[in-house]
Amino acid sequence: MPDATILGIETSCDETGVAVVRAGEQILSNVVASQIATHQPYGGVVPELASREHLRAIVPVMRQALAEAALAYEDLDAIAVTQGPGLVGALLVGISFAKALAFALDMPLIAVNHLEGHIHAALLERKQQENSDLQFPVLALVVSGGHTHLYLTQQDGNSWTYRNVGHTRDDAAGEAFDKVAKLLGLGYPGGPIIDGLAQRGNPTAIHFPASQLKNRDRNRPQEEVEDQPRFDFSYSGIKTAVLRHVETHSMASEIEARRRALAEIALPKSEDYLRLCDRATLDLIASFQRSIVEDLIAKTLAAAREYDVRTLLVSGGVAANRELRAAFERKAGEEGIPVFFPSRLLSTDNAAMIAAAAYPKFLAREFLPMDFNVEPGLKLGAA
Ligand code: KG4
Ligand code: ZN
Repeated sequence: MPDATILGIETSCDETGVAVVRAGEQILSNVVASQIATHQPYGGVVPELASREHLRAIVPVMRQALAEAALAYEDLDAIAVTQGPGLVGALLVGISFAKALAFALDMPLIAVNHLEGHIHAALLERKQQENSDLQFPVLALVVSGGHTHLYLTQQDGNSWTYRNVGHTRDDAAGEAFDKVAKLLGLGYPGGPIIDGLAQRGNPTAIHFPASQLKNRDRNRPQEEVEDQPRFDFSYSGIKTAVLRHVETHSMASEIEARRRALAEIALPKSEDYLRLCDRATLDLIASFQRSIVEDLIAKTLAAAREYDVRTLLVSGGVAANRELRAAFERKAGEEGIPVFFPSRLLSTDNAAMIAAAAYPKFLAREFLPMDFNVEPGLKLGAA
């Protein structure tokens, strides 16, 4: 069944996604219900609310995905679902729903690692557009609200193999965007807001030092650290540096005024954010973003040189960042390495990437029994 049609389900965090993808590359539908409005008053994702919202949204989102694909249940060949990593209660909603569907329809069930989904998102549209072969080894940077990982990726028949050659030792890059936006009174989620405002500020106004890896990596034994080169990240320092800047430049009252003004607006637009930021704040935002972007690119390119990489993939929510995309293309271009991103829509969480990542597993008949379980801390590949 080379053109298998897979229904993908994604509920790992705060987006309920259902998509139908044919042959791992043709998106027939991709429906995402965002929970931003639910979590916004709390300044971040509240796990219990996320589960409740997934429960509410999953059936209508699935119906819409099938309707947009103009398909009936019987036209599907398999059900794919995110197994982890993510919020346990949120993942459970998707997994329980996928199991029920697969059981009722007597279809195979495929579990997908959310991070592998992000990597396949970068390939989905490329496969559709060019249909050309990907040059291996591939280095994939997955950069989102919960993750900053570098994976050295090879293809072995239908299977993909991953080796983690870098990760964040503390905050993920998206988390730094979200925390800095919050401390500047800009609300949640911070990435898109900072992305918009940074274009209006001077990125060289303030020098924030690139991440310094002071702490030993507690997640791995010391002998492994010495054994092979690592390209780890750290973004909690820059968040503290922004906080210190805010304190030493007496920005607290302005931040509080902005927080209150934005709380009055139901869904603030980019003009609202801009109106409420003075030049010093815009420069601070632009300088913060530049520092993160430069660090992500420098580490990724250093790893690419070390492993003689032929193709770069950049995906995950932060890959939607306009400055990151432009700077990556420029700098990777200087080194002669092609870099591919998903469209901005496929960069953030969605189910099309889950259905696409499931396709090689469908071909390899990697199906799961009904009693497989949620894995909130699921890792991808060997370290
Ligand atoms: O991949 P994603 O939707 O969910 C996770 O798996 O974490 O990523 C969400 C993260 C959030 O931290 C959000 O602030 C960030 O991606 N993000 C961005 C942009 N759009 C989303 N960060 C920087 N620039 C953006 N345009
Ligand atoms: Zn994600």
